[in-house]
Amino acid sequence: MSARVSCAGCGPAAPIVLPMARTIAVALPKGGVGKTTTAVNLAASFAAEGARTLLIDIDPIGSSGVALGFTPSTISTGLYDVLNFVAAFPAAIYHTELAGLDFVPCNVRNLQNEERLAKLADNRTILRNMMRGVVDRYDYILIDCPPSLRGLSTAALAAADSVLIPVRPGHFSLDAIDKLFTYLDWMRENTSRPIAVEGIVITMHEPNTRVTEITLRELSSRYRRHILSTMIPRSDTLSEASFYGKPALLYNSASRGSTSYRTLAREIIARQQAAQQATLQPTIMERYGA
Ligand SMILES: Nc1ncnc2c1ncn2[C@@H]1O[C@H](COP(=O)(O)OP(=O)(O)OP(=O)(O)O)[C@@H](O)[C@H]1O
Ligand SMILES: [Mg+2]
Repeated sequence: MSARVSCAGCGPAAPIVLPMARTIAVALPKGGVGKTTTAVNLAASFAAEGARTLLIDIDPIGSSGVALGFTPSTISTGLYDVLNFVAAFPAAIYHTELAGLDFVPCNVRNLQNEERLAKLADNRTILRNMMRGVVDRYDYILIDCPPSLRGLSTAALAAADSVLIPVRPGHFSLDAIDKLFTYLDWMRENTSRPIAVEGIVITMHEPNTRVTEITLRELSSRYRRHILSTMIPRSDTLSEASFYGKPALLYNSASRGSTSYRTLAREIIARQQAAQQATLQPTIMERYGA
C-alpha cells in the first residue's frame, strides 16, 4: 500500500475523548441491506474521528476488501489462514489507504475454502480467541458479517461487544430483525457474553415513500429505543466509491453519503461516552461520597 492519506477537510471539529475499545458486528440475516457499505464507511469515519480502527471481513464473498481497493494479488494472508492456524492474526492485518484504518480480508478462494471456514466457525469462540492479542491496539473493531446467522456470523457475534443492524426499508428487513433479536436472545442464554445492541441504522433512506413510512412506523412500535437518529440516505456516491475501491470520504468527502456516515460515527461515539459516564457516576459518588 502506498503512502496513507488523511481525509482532506475531514478533521474532527474538536478533539474527542474516545470511549473504551469496542468490537461491533455489523449484521442482519438479509442480503443487500447495506452491511458492507456501513461497515466500510463507518470504519473509515471512526478513523477520520481519530479512532484507531480495524475492519474485519468475515463474509467469504469478500466485498469489504473490494470496497477498500484490495485484490487477490494484494492479499497474501487473510482471515482464512488465521482461522486455519496457518498464520497469526497480526500477519493478516493490512494498512488501508486511509490513515488510522486497518483491515483483515476474508481470503476465501474457492468453495472448498468456504466449506472449511464454515466448519471452523462451528467453534463459535474461534474468532474471539484469535483476536485476543490485537484488541488492545484499536479503539473500534468492526466485523462485516455475511447475510445469515449461525456459522461465521455466530463467531462474529461471539467476538463482539455489540451488534449494529443496518436496515433497508422494506417488509423483509423487518422479518430479518425479528429473527436476529430472537437469535441474540438464544446467544445470550447459550454463551457467557451479554451482547448489546449498538443500534438499528436505516440505510438507503428515501423520504416520503410509503415503504419508508411503513418500515419506520413498524420499527418504532417494536424497537424504538434501538433506532439511531442518523439515517443513511440513498446516495450514488456510496456505490460509486466502492467501484473505485475507496471509502466515500476519500472519494467525495462532501457528499451526503459520506457526511451521513461521519454523523453516524459521532452519534455512536457520543452514545458510548454517555453510557460510560452513567456507569462511572455511581462509582465516583461511592468513592467520594458525593
Ligand atoms: N446508502 C446507499 N445508497 C445507495 N446505494 C447503496 C447504499 N448502501 C448500499 N448501497 C448499495 O446497495 C448494494 C448492497 O449494499 P451492501 O453490499 O453494502 O449490502 P450487504 O448487506 O453487505 O449485502 P450482502 O448481504 O450481500 O453482503 C450495493 O450495490 C451498495 O453499493
Ligand atoms: Mg456484504
